[in-house]
Amino acid sequence: MNGAGRMLGYKLGLDSIGAGILMALDFTGRVAIVTGAGGGLGRLHALALAARGARVVVNDYGGARDGGGGSSTAAQAVADEIIGLGGQALAHGASVTDLAAVADMVAQTMAAWGRVDILVNNAGILRDKSFSKMSVDDFRAVVEVHLMGAVHCCKAVWPHMVAQNFGRIVMTTSSTGLFGNFGQSNYGAAKMALVGLMQTLSIEGAKYDIRVNCLAPTAATRMTEGLLPQEVLAVLQPEAVVPALLVLASADAPNRAIACAGAGTFAAAHVTLTHGVHLGLTADTPERLIEAWAQVSDRTDDSVPASGAAQGSNEVGQALANRR
Ligand SMILES: NC(=O)c1ccc[n+]([C@@H]2O[C@H](COP(=O)([O-])OP(=O)(O)OC[C@H]3O[C@@H](n4cnc5c(N)ncnc54)[C@H](O)[C@@H]3O)[C@@H](O)[C@H]2O)c1
Repeated sequence: MNGAGRMLGYKLGLDSIGAGILMALDFTGRVAIVTGAGGGLGRLHALALAARGARVVVNDYGGARDGGGGSSTAAQAVADEIIGLGGQALAHGASVTDLAAVADMVAQTMAAWGRVDILVNNAGILRDKSFSKMSVDDFRAVVEVHLMGAVHCCKAVWPHMVAQNFGRIVMTTSSTGLFGNFGQSNYGAAKMALVGLMQTLSIEGAKYDIRVNCLAPTAATRMTEGLLPQEVLAVLQPEAVVPALLVLASADAPNRAIACAGAGTFAAAHVTLTHGVHLGLTADTPERLIEAWAQVSDRTDDSVPASGAAQGSNEVGQALANRR
């Protein structure tokens, strides 16, 4: 950790790591872009990366929780905070929904620092309503920021990461996407779409050492204000999510993980496949399928497929085995 990092690090309570037996995760020489870093979790991710030596592009378009409004003041304030603590930071007020503005942000990053190692897709908005009351515009607006915003940022950094033979991309997903939540169909669909994006980018990026992972945080921020009871919010310090982000952004990151982090607890979520049952194709297959439903969904011996091909292999394998 460099001098500036130590100064920022002390602020974030990292001095105990320096004194202990753990090897500190070091981001010296790395360049990171964190979207939506003008407040909430993104600001803490940016501060923590800077504290450990990264040069950080603080992106935020500075809008309201529902995506309205906008100014680059929030991003600039966090960049100033990092610089004031001795770190290196740039502010960029691009909306992640604006492909040209995102391209400009990455061009400015390359012009200033010549590389981009880490992309944290963190920007997000909420427009909660039950599906029956939700307008298609509210659905689309949420998908635009979370999904297309991440697509724009990935697209802009990807060629640089390929050329560098190194990249770490973190998609911020959500328990709502993974498991559902009343009133958040737009948000959940967009957040699970990020898992889908991660699944394929992690496969395509592997040969360039581009590792792509998802982070599902739980934290008391303006996003969860009023949605969770006060005593629950009190234990959900947003700082407790940051260790998971640092691991996913590090040189030793896993690839294709879905990390869940909140209140100091860390877990992994998986998209799994049951072994299933081969029923073949006869006139009564639908009836036998209803009969066999418990066996179809039985999780004994389920797997986490390494790619989509695993489903077809399982199906064809069982069909061929049953033919013999
Ligand atoms: N807080 C939680 O418990 C929780 C749970 C699951 C997922 N998340 C996700 O974590 C991320 C951070 O959320 P947070 O809780 O810190 O909320 P937050 O509202 O404090 O932070 C989101 C930031 O994104 C910025 N932003 C919004 N639209 C943008 C755009 N188009 N371009 C650039 N910046 C934009 C906002 O200005 C804001 O600063 C979000 O993706 C959110 O969906 C949060």
